[in-house]
Amino acid sequence: MYAQMVKSEASQEDPEKLAAFQKRIDANEKIEPKDWMPEGYRKTLIRQIGQHAHSEIVGQLPEGNWITRAPTLERKAILLAKVQDEAGHGLYLYCAAETLGVSRDELTEMLLDGRMKYSSIFNYPTLTWADMGAVGWLVDGAAIMNQVPLQRTSYGPYARAMVRICKEESFHQRQGFDIMMKMANGTPAQKQMAQDALNRIWFPALMMFGPSDKDSVHSSQSMAWKIKMNTNDELRQKFVDQTAPQAEYLGLTVPDETLAWNDEKGGYDFAEPDWSEFHDVIQGNGPCNADRLEARNRAWNDNAWVREGMMAHAAKKRAQKVAAQ
Ligand code: 3HC
Repeated sequence: MYAQMVKSEASQEDPEKLAAFQKRIDANEKIEPKDWMPEGYRKTLIRQIGQHAHSEIVGQLPEGNWITRAPTLERKAILLAKVQDEAGHGLYLYCAAETLGVSRDELTEMLLDGRMKYSSIFNYPTLTWADMGAVGWLVDGAAIMNQVPLQRTSYGPYARAMVRICKEESFHQRQGFDIMMKMANGTPAQKQMAQDALNRIWFPALMMFGPSDKDSVHSSQSMAWKIKMNTNDELRQKFVDQTAPQAEYLGLTVPDETLAWNDEKGGYDFAEPDWSEFHDVIQGNGPCNADRLEARNRAWNDNAWVREGMMAHAAKKRAQKVAAQ
């Protein structure tokens, strides 16, 4: 359906303009907000950047849950810094999306009423402190795998936002791996906690890369427009190849008996996630979907007075500036 929509829009565009636009993309030129772009390109960017931003904002909830429960003041400070970074990532990405003519309020309302998604991974609970390690190590690790190529994406504001985000993601992943190292080398109970976190978060982390390529609705068009630089399966494979040796180094076992190095392929063979679970979660039926949207709706409604006050103040300042001219 989506692919048809993009094709039908493309058919209404001026063929010469479309051809010139694609030539710019193929020459790795950056498309800037004021440049001509096909409506389908703009809509695809709003969808992807908007959902990316929502993921950053909603992603603060599972980790925020452990700020008051961190085992030491140092861990609390590190986790606070990380969660605060995620808010900043959301803001950079909403700013990039706004250059396409959509407002932050519109994007937020589409999140709150379920018309827009956020990453499936954030619909799983964080049950122990070791989950903070596994989230940093696996979830931010997967996010880095997916985001580093996006620094070369064709849309200028998105590519530039990703440069700053990727730098901070590396700290997120390292602090998570450090927690996992401490737990895996701690008491038997701590090591078991780390293994339990890996068992619960491994397959949901693989789902972050999206459905398998044969089921990906957007990949081919998004790659033609260099909105997406790699396929879902390519990045998933890279993530497994990088992460499996790290689990071994920790002395932990990836919860996949089929995981094995394949010399011929030059990578690991591994079991795919349960795609019926994935579709369940992205259709709103995951373990924490209701909680996450309830928390975001509550924050939006309870803080409406702050937004209204800030907007009124900004309008007053603008009026004063005009009056002074
Ligand atoms: N969670 C939720 N929805 C997902 C998903 C996931 N893990 N994977 C795919 N989907 C959705 C897509 O959005 C699309 O639905 P839509 O048409 O309603 O948008 C549908 O499933 C089909 O998937 P496609 O593969 O065809 O979709 P894409 O080409 O958009 O690929 C993607 C999905 C790989 C997530 C791509 O959108 C992308 O690279 N996005 C940018 C990066 C991003 O958003 N990462 C999310 C994590 S950010 C993060 O983790 C924060 C970090 O700080 C922890």
